[in-house]
Amino acid sequence: MKLLFIGDIVGKGGREAVRTLVPELRRELGISFVIANAENSAGGNGMTKRCLAEMSDVVDVFTGGDHIWDQKGFDAEINSIPNLVRPANLHKTQPGRGFGIFRNPAGGDIAVINLQGKVFMRDSAYCPFETVDNILKSLPSTVKTILVDFHAEATSEKIAMSYFLDGRVTAVIGTHTHVQTNDAVVRPGGCAFMADAGMTGADTSVLGREVEDVVRKFTSGMPSRLNVVEAGCIRLDAALVTYDYITGRASEIVPVCRKIQIN
Ligand SMILES: [Fe+2]
Ligand SMILES: [Fe+2]
Repeated sequence: MKLLFIGDIVGKGGREAVRTLVPELRRELGISFVIANAENSAGGNGMTKRCLAEMSDVVDVFTGGDHIWDQKGFDAEINSIPNLVRPANLHKTQPGRGFGIFRNPAGGDIAVINLQGKVFMRDSAYCPFETVDNILKSLPSTVKTILVDFHAEATSEKIAMSYFLDGRVTAVIGTHTHVQTNDAVVRPGGCAFMADAGMTGADTSVLGREVEDVVRKFTSGMPSRLNVVEAGCIRLDAALVTYDYITGRASEIVPVCRKIQIN
């Protein structure tokens, strides 16, 4: 069984790339389930129900991150989006849910858990290790396939999480840095890991933002608007995980990168 995990979708260009490329990837690679981090899918900041609906024909489950509440009013609509999980270790009074169990049409259930890191992250969160431990204890034993999107800055925190969860989950895949890492590995206990899946956004950009805007910000130190690059060559970064849905163990994880011209 194969699932695809797509790195942070940035803006309209990213959404368009997902809509066009995912059906092709599903056919070509034999993918039966697609999960995507959508924390920057609405104009580069946060998400809206409408933005997710645009991609729901091709993506099964969306995850979030530290930008989850960037769009005004999203807190009021998140509970009406059944195929979204946001970081589980946010304050317990926040709306939404941190994990969900979803049916894979090709076989078996998939639990998707979203966590946020604590190291070098602007928002405080509960301990992601303790949080995921509690979630795993609460899952029915019939759920064998478990994917964790660990939305975090520090590679050390992500690598530690993959060892912590090895033998208990199918995959730990990192998001948030928007840069795909060259470290895909299956741990001895069958946990597939990649420190960051990368980004689905403009190929010529700084993490999806206009190069000139970001360079000006760094060279002048002045606060400035960082516009999102919405068209041109858009890259879709992802991780392809092969797993056994009976045992929940992964056997392979490989990086995926596709590029498309969006006008
Ligand atoms: Fe993030
Ligand atoms: Fe992001």
